[in-house]
Amino acid sequence: MIPRLLLNIAATLLCATAQNIAVLKQTLSANGVPAVYPTDKNFKNVSKAFNERFTFVPIAVVFPTSVAQVSTAVAAGAAQNLEVVARSGGHSYIANGLGGRNGALVVDMSKLKAITVRPSNNTALIETGNRLGDVALALNAKGRAIPHGTCSYVGIGGHSGYGGFGFTSRAWGLTLDTVKSATVVLGNGTIVSASPNVNPDLFFAIRGASPSFGIVTSIEVQTFPAPPSAIVFEYTWNNVDITTASNGIASFQTFAATDIPPEFGAELVFTKGDKKGKVNFGLTGAYYGDAKLFNSTLAPYLKTLPKNPSNTTITPGSYINSVGVLAAPKSLNTSSAPDSPDTFYTKSVMTPSGAPMSKAAITAFVTYMANQSFSSDTAWFVEVELYGGTNSAINAVPLDSAAFAKRDTLFTIQFYASSSDHVPPYPKDGFSFLDGMVASILDNSPSNWNYGAYLNYIDDRLVNAANLYYGSHFKRLESLKVALDPKNTFRFPIGVA
Ligand SMILES: Cc1cc2nc3c(=O)[nH]c(=O)nc-3n(C[C@H](O)[C@H](O)[C@H](O)COP(=O)(O)OP(=O)(O)OC[C@H]3O[C@@H](n4cnc5c(N)ncnc54)[C@H](O)[C@@H]3O)c2cc1C
Ligand SMILES: *[C@@H]1O[C@H](CO)[C@@H](O)[C@H](O)[C@H]1NC(C)=O
Ligand SMILES: *[C@@H]1O[C@H](CO)[C@@H](O)[C@H](O)[C@H]1NC(C)=O
Ligand SMILES: *[C@@H]1O[C@H](CO)[C@@H](O)[C@H](O)[C@H]1NC(C)=O
Ligand SMILES: *[C@@H]1O[C@H](CO)[C@@H](O)[C@H](O)[C@H]1NC(C)=O
Ligand SMILES: *[C@@H]1O[C@H](CO)[C@@H](O)[C@H](O)[C@H]1NC(C)=O
Ligand SMILES: *[C@@H]1O[C@H](CO)[C@@H](O)[C@H](O)[C@H]1NC(C)=O
Ligand SMILES: *[C@@H]1O[C@H](CO)[C@@H](O)[C@H](O)[C@H]1NC(C)=O
Repeated sequence: MIPRLLLNIAATLLCATAQNIAVLKQTLSANGVPAVYPTDKNFKNVSKAFNERFTFVPIAVVFPTSVAQVSTAVAAGAAQNLEVVARSGGHSYIANGLGGRNGALVVDMSKLKAITVRPSNNTALIETGNRLGDVALALNAKGRAIPHGTCSYVGIGGHSGYGGFGFTSRAWGLTLDTVKSATVVLGNGTIVSASPNVNPDLFFAIRGASPSFGIVTSIEVQTFPAPPSAIVFEYTWNNVDITTASNGIASFQTFAATDIPPEFGAELVFTKGDKKGKVNFGLTGAYYGDAKLFNSTLAPYLKTLPKNPSNTTITPGSYINSVGVLAAPKSLNTSSAPDSPDTFYTKSVMTPSGAPMSKAAITAFVTYMANQSFSSDTAWFVEVELYGGTNSAINAVPLDSAAFAKRDTLFTIQFYASSSDHVPPYPKDGFSFLDGMVASILDNSPSNWNYGAYLNYIDDRLVNAANLYYGSHFKRLESLKVALDPKNTFRFPIGVA
């Protein structure tokens, strides 16, 4: 028999919950905030995760049409003690744009899409309902550009809150480095500005940890002149052996330390070879300097690789053409077609400039890719992205000027494994396959190796996450969190709490 007291408590809790949601609905509807609830027929559609490994059921998904409505929604959620999260492009690897678990109030920014380019001071005001492809098109129409990643459907909200790396980043920095000021809705619904002079602590926090501190409704960014020309390059060598691929990583490290120009952006790409002991090795990137100097810039590195690539694709053209080529087959205009989801797990390692990967670590890593992938039925790829090297704007930013904590990075390595058919279920051994891949590097590196991990490749299984993601800034962020979001309204997996 269940004691009467427990029944009473249960009844009170149920009642309280029901009443809370009723109040939430009433507040939202009284203020005209469009909202979709689990009982609505389009709820399933608006609560789908990009990564189909996750299915979460939010309390509601709201679609504010103004900053005031964002404020109303946050305050209404906080009043009911709900977890509140923003969703910009919805591309969080662990579905944190849906709250990262059940029961969140999701504030979808997609109705806030204004982009204003201001020639007077070369800034642009970008509302965070925009996606990267649409931002690139709008800025380019005025001859301007900002650094950002390649996938056109990624939202500017999440991207600029945690980092934002693309092939212009060695010249211009991460997306978050271009932010001059922002409008932010705090956990109690207050609308504030953040800039070097106004709320400087908040300004620090939103450039590297924004999801934990507020809903950024717009960012004012410094823009750059769209480069007069661009060359996208893509070389692949199929089925190279372990020694050749290992040498290709080692010589990439050496090349990065030579006098390479900031207009050179690149990454190495690895995929499964045809048979055990082989990997496909790719070199992809873009060059935004004087076209006449492209070959001589890349030649010293190409010289270290096998003579005849399986495929060479060099695409010269305008700046915006390069953005389109890198986003292909997706278009830059994201209103023209829906996004396509995936089912995947991702990890990352950011290698320190001062302590490049050892030969032993590289060999173990490549051996793992070449051999272990034949015991995994995932569809995987690895990208070794060049953040640092000589003349990188990413590393030129003073460490303590923004929350982003990994300024001394040489490579950001992304390990990405999808289910073999890219739909659920996700195979259990996908996790151990990637864990082992990362371990192949770490087990062959010094125990005090000062590596990190990248929040835009967020991993909910990461051990020691606070240190790897936030590094020396974690303590400061923890104390700022208490001051700026004392009720922890913005809470989700891997946040600052
Ligand atoms: C196909 C693909 C390609 C990618 N390529 C790159 C790349 O080239 N370079 C790179 O750096 N990264 C890349 N990424 C990673 C990408 O930058 C992150 O997934 C990013 O966080 C997604 O942002 P979003 O707004 O789309 O996601 P969301 O899921 O909407 O948001 C991500 C996180 O940010 C929070 N958030 C969203 N909007 C706001 C806001 N306005 N204010 C405060 N918090 C907010 C959310 O609550 C959530 O915690 C890629 C991702 C994918 C899926
Ligand atoms: C699904 O929801 C998105 C917004 O999240 C919307 O753009 C799209 O039109 C919806 N699709 C359908 C079929 O309702
Ligand atoms: C840029 O100019 C706009 C007006 O055109 C102004 O509102 C904004 O504050 C300026 N930004 C900076 C960083 O000077
Ligand atoms: C990797 O596979 C190749 C080809 O089968 C084999 O020669 C080699 O010994 C393997 N290495 C390890 C460490 O398993
Ligand atoms: C650069 O090299 C490519 C081959 O890799 C060649 O097709 C092209 O003509 C070269 N360009 C110049 C300007 O030398
Ligand atoms: C070479 O690479 C390009 C760009 O990825 C691709 O479009 C083309 O199909 C490839 N060609 C071959 C022969 O694989
Ligand atoms: C994007 O595509 C939509 C729908 O096809 C169209 O209405 C809009 O004008 C396009 N935007 C740009 C910037 O080309
Ligand atoms: C809202 O929160 C901020 C940050 O904690 C605080 O400074 C401000 O006073 C709060 N406003 C109200 C109305 O409580």
